[in-house]
Amino acid sequence: MNTVLVGAQWGDEGKGKVIDFLTEEADVVVRFQGGSNAGHTVVVGDRKYVLHLVPSGILHEGKHCVIGNGVVMDPFDLMRELEQVESWGFTLKGRFHISERAHMVMQWHRAIDKAEEAARAEGAKIGTTGRGIGPAYAAKVGRYGMRVGDILKPDFLDLVRRQVAEANRTITALGALPLDPEEMVKLYAPMVQALMPYVTDTIEFIHDKLEKGATFLFEGAQATMLDIDFGTYPFVTSSNPTAGGACTGSGVSPRAIDRVIGVLKLYTTRVGEGPFPTELLDDDGETLRKRGGEFGATTGRPRRCGWFDAVIARYAQRVNGVDFWAMTKLDVLDAFPVVKICTGYRRKDGFVYTTFPADLEVLKWCEPVYEEMPGWQCETSHITSYDALPENAKKYISRILELVGGKLGVLSVGPARETTLRISI
Ligand code: GDP
Ligand code: IMO
Ligand code: MG
Repeated sequence: MNTVLVGAQWGDEGKGKVIDFLTEEADVVVRFQGGSNAGHTVVVGDRKYVLHLVPSGILHEGKHCVIGNGVVMDPFDLMRELEQVESWGFTLKGRFHISERAHMVMQWHRAIDKAEEAARAEGAKIGTTGRGIGPAYAAKVGRYGMRVGDILKPDFLDLVRRQVAEANRTITALGALPLDPEEMVKLYAPMVQALMPYVTDTIEFIHDKLEKGATFLFEGAQATMLDIDFGTYPFVTSSNPTAGGACTGSGVSPRAIDRVIGVLKLYTTRVGEGPFPTELLDDDGETLRKRGGEFGATTGRPRRCGWFDAVIARYAQRVNGVDFWAMTKLDVLDAFPVVKICTGYRRKDGFVYTTFPADLEVLKWCEPVYEEMPGWQCETSHITSYDALPENAKKYISRILELVGGKLGVLSVGPARETTLRISI
């Protein structure tokens, strides 16, 4: 049973936690897109682990973890993270693998990311994580990127020199200070030895394992509404976090995928700029942020919070072909006397959109249509079975399933590993 797991909203749905839960029954966990813009949290006992590039499966000894070809990997972020993982007491040797086809995020991509963001006018800013993701993917599709495999070549440092000189033209045109090519060479020279042991042809590795019957878990980063094709363009990331990305980002056929799990927070959050129809700028929004601990795992920025949006969840169900949902953060809603579900966006002339519009301008003239439901106003974080949930919580979940399709596979009622209920997977 090979599973693709994707975020259904604007990220931070709790993918890391669910991957950690599902890794028990997997042999190999593969990251297939994104980079260190991701922040995936796993809480075990009183320890909190945040992973950015390394698959969340690393917290289970004996499981293989792969950074697939679709990822853009910043070698410095990775080295830092690998040191951290080892300091936590987990082994890497023999079970952590990086695709030689993956692209690298270099210092100049970060510089361009920051300079581009600074140059954007108010209202056009994306609110990127500043991790160089957009420029690294731009270099990849522009066919001037740097691949992980390039570090193994004898002329790697010359390539660094040439790329810095080229990037400096963009950096200075954006009004930022150029980078010193010789300093970059000094910076990148030691990296070769450090990364070499992990670099491999992951296509061969993955197919070898597939042929031997290993179970795969494909760990999506970001989410459907941040997808470069399906998200709220241009307020998106530069990759395909949707289910199709698992194939192109790891080199497996769609036929190798048995099921898709979508991770769905039972309210909505977004970090960075861009439209967010159900955003709450009032006390309810503040309550969600406080109770949910909604501060970015990568940048620490406060996340924007709002009610559950069934329009985007239904859209995510269709685009990804979600079979099962992993619904998270039910406990965060425990305090509310009333909970709301957005079922459409009403235009001023009365027309209601029930599918997500491609043209974001439309949303400026719309307001969300809500269904209100009574809250349950009791704690759910100690609950260990679906049957034991308060009736109103069950009704809330059932109504969401009715609106968005798919089945409930996993329910999460707290940050810790133990607060995960297996429902129907
Ligand atoms: P990811 O990017 O999708 O992996 O999600 P993040 O790790 O960025 O953000 C999810 C946050 O919610 C983390 O702090 C998790 O520890 C926490 N979390 C996950 N599931 C639950 C849950 O069911 N209840 C609560 N209260 N917190 C949760
Ligand atoms: P995980 O995997 C939430 C957002 C940024 C910004 C936009 C583009 O933890 O869910 P980028 O740096 O990718 O060019 O920024 O995408 N973003 C995320 N938001 N969770 C993430 O990852 C995100 N990764 C990027 O805030 O709005
Ligand atoms: Mg996150």
